[in-house]
Amino acid sequence: MKGFIIIASLKPGHEKELLVSNAKIIVPIFIGATVLLAGARSISWETDHPPVGMCVGECYEAYKVEDAKRREAEAAMLAAASPADLGKKIYAACAGCHGLNGEGGVGPKLQGATKNAIVSMLTQYKNGETRGAQSALMWGQSAALSADDMANIGAYVESL
Ligand code: HEC
Repeated sequence: MKGFIIIASLKPGHEKELLVSNAKIIVPIFIGATVLLAGARSISWETDHPPVGMCVGECYEAYKVEDAKRREAEAAMLAAASPADLGKKIYAACAGCHGLNGEGGVGPKLQGATKNAIVSMLTQYKNGETRGAQSALMWGQSAALSADDMANIGAYVESL
């Protein structure tokens, strides 16, 4: 209130006092307006546009179409792939120890083993059975393999 009174009283010699009291009013108003404006801007920004990285509405519909196409192509590719092809993909994780062509390395040579032998050995490892001194290494390797995976790996190893 005092500020308003001083603004109103334009008596000579009161200029400095007037400036200070005006600043006391103008500065808070300016800060308040800035905060309000910034707030309003951020609210309208959030509601007008989805935040960066979020895919909604049309974007999500387009994504669903693309994703369905991708799944179809993937299924067609898998259907066309031979067991040995599928086994080759999984074997990539085995090559480090058994050699790119199953010639052996850290792990024994697999080349020359039949599909059935491979499936049977992998099944034993998956069941936690001990075959050689380092079987523990293969327990982890075979844990996630399905019966199909093992048959596919067997088909691939047989083809080496
Ligand atoms: C970290 C190294 C390592 C990786 C990776 C690995 N193996 Fe082995 N593998 C071994 C070792 C060591 C043995 C011998 C285990 C034992 O003493 O019984 C072995 C044994 C085997 C045997 C038995 C061979 C035989 O003649 O007795 C088969 C089959 C086999 N691994 C398949 C695989 C397949 C398939 C994968 C990939 C899914 C794989 N391994 C990944 C190290 C590995």
